[in-house]
Amino acid sequence: MSKVIYSAIQPSGIMTLGNYIGAVDNWQQMQANEDNKCIFALADLHTITVRQDPKKFHENAMSFYALLMAMGLDPKKSILYFQSHVQEHAYLSWLLNCYTYVGEMNRMTQFKDKSAKHSDNINMGLMDYPVLMAADILLYRTDEVPVGIDQMQHIEIARDIAERVNGIYGDIFTVPKGVLKKVGAKIMSLQDPTQKMSKSDPNPKAVISVLDDDSVIMKKFKSAVTDSETIIKYDAENKPGVSNLLTILSVCENKPIDVLEKEFEGLMYGHLKIRTGEAVCEMLRPMKERYNQLMNDKGYLLQCAKEGAEKAREIARPVLDKFRQAIGYVLI
Ligand code: TRP
Repeated sequence: MSKVIYSAIQPSGIMTLGNYIGAVDNWQQMQANEDNKCIFALADLHTITVRQDPKKFHENAMSFYALLMAMGLDPKKSILYFQSHVQEHAYLSWLLNCYTYVGEMNRMTQFKDKSAKHSDNINMGLMDYPVLMAADILLYRTDEVPVGIDQMQHIEIARDIAERVNGIYGDIFTVPKGVLKKVGAKIMSLQDPTQKMSKSDPNPKAVISVLDDDSVIMKKFKSAVTDSETIIKYDAENKPGVSNLLTILSVCENKPIDVLEKEFEGLMYGHLKIRTGEAVCEMLRPMKERYNQLMNDKGYLLQCAKEGAEKAREIARPVLDKFRQAIGYVLI
């Protein structure tokens, strides 16, 4: 029996160097295992819980789909689709709403945070977000959901809902397990290296987008914040900037940090910044080429999205129907 692994991301913000390094590691491992069935969605229904500009949203969705492929998800090996193309998500989400308590949703940390941040638009979708996410997961008889720690509470709710439904109607849903994503190298902001590099940092100099041009990448590394010493060595506490550069270089060149420290003996911070910038450009180059090819062939992207949606629907439809039948709906 193969294991179903399900994950999704929202097509909003920018894909950062930190996302790239984390994602490539995790996905390649997930996909390489023949026993895994990997399903990956662009959670574009979730995205409109926060108001989006239509043109930008549209462009972002295509761009993220191409990015996922360019970064290593293979539509031949995994199912790669847009959530909005599989209507079973919205349908199941409604059904699950009737098995979810308002109190449960009110307690969700992310709902509280986002309500505070978007106090002018606390819409029902924002509150219902975890139920739609439960529908995503439960439609595919998912065994494992690799997520960051911030999403664990939502996985717990998905499990509670699945168990509640199974308790009433018998074995309808597989109860999913949340697994913490393997954290690889933690990539910090280039301007405040005590903070994580964040996709929503207002200072563009702090963040490398995977789609930045080489010249932009070099400029950002050259102006990376370091410290007032001159020694290149790893010391995350006292030298967070230099340590961050060494971490990034170590990932890009696939070399241990102590080897790099030796290579940089007697050299200056400027050397480290330039070499790290160049190594990042080098690492991202093939991905960007693949991305540009894909974006120049929208027909192919749409074809992949269509096939992905069909494959997803083949799994989702019978699961939804089993639940509908259990509730008592007349099936035609
Ligand atoms: N809420 C997730 C996030 O913002 C995205 C997401 C939507 C998701 N549906 C999912 C993740 C299902 C895992 C499984 O990161």
